[in-house]
Amino acid sequence: MAILEIRKYPDPVLRETARPITAIDAKIRQLAADMIETMRSANGVGLAASQVGIPVRLALVDFDPEKRDPRVLINPVIVKRFGRRELGEEGCLSFPDLRSQVKRSPRLLCQAQDLRGEELEYEVEGLTARAVQHELDHLDGLLFVDKVGPSDRQSLRHDLEEMEQAYAALHPGG
Ligand code: NI
Repeated sequence: MAILEIRKYPDPVLRETARPITAIDAKIRQLAADMIETMRSANGVGLAASQVGIPVRLALVDFDPEKRDPRVLINPVIVKRFGRRELGEEGCLSFPDLRSQVKRSPRLLCQAQDLRGEELEYEVEGLTARAVQHELDHLDGLLFVDKVGPSDRQSLRHDLEEMEQAYAALHPGG
């Protein structure tokens, strides 16, 4: 296993629409194993493949953070949402030190393949439902800062500009 580099905002790969996974082969299993190690070492509760520079539809979500044994969600989709969206605090490994309030559905039904290709259904709520929505957004090139309400948006702008400048300094010429 290996610890992978977590891409930081505004790395363009974070804006890509991830490709569906058509074969769960050795490469995908290796990617999942490396992502699990990467997520644990970063103390995250979720990680999408796009965040390690590989835009395929694979995401990890820790359903029980105490166990630190994340679910591997391959080609995940949200089948149904329940309840009115609620505000809650979120962060993201691609935005170190940034936290913001985002509205998410409190409960949902999600369908995904596991590493053996088995199609599974999960009903999740609370923080787990929040994490699933956050990670699935990554697979569509959406970031939590896109969903922040107008009141938080002002204070975010400064932080985002700083990140954009830091990224530009590290990647001259775009
Ligand atoms: Ni994230």
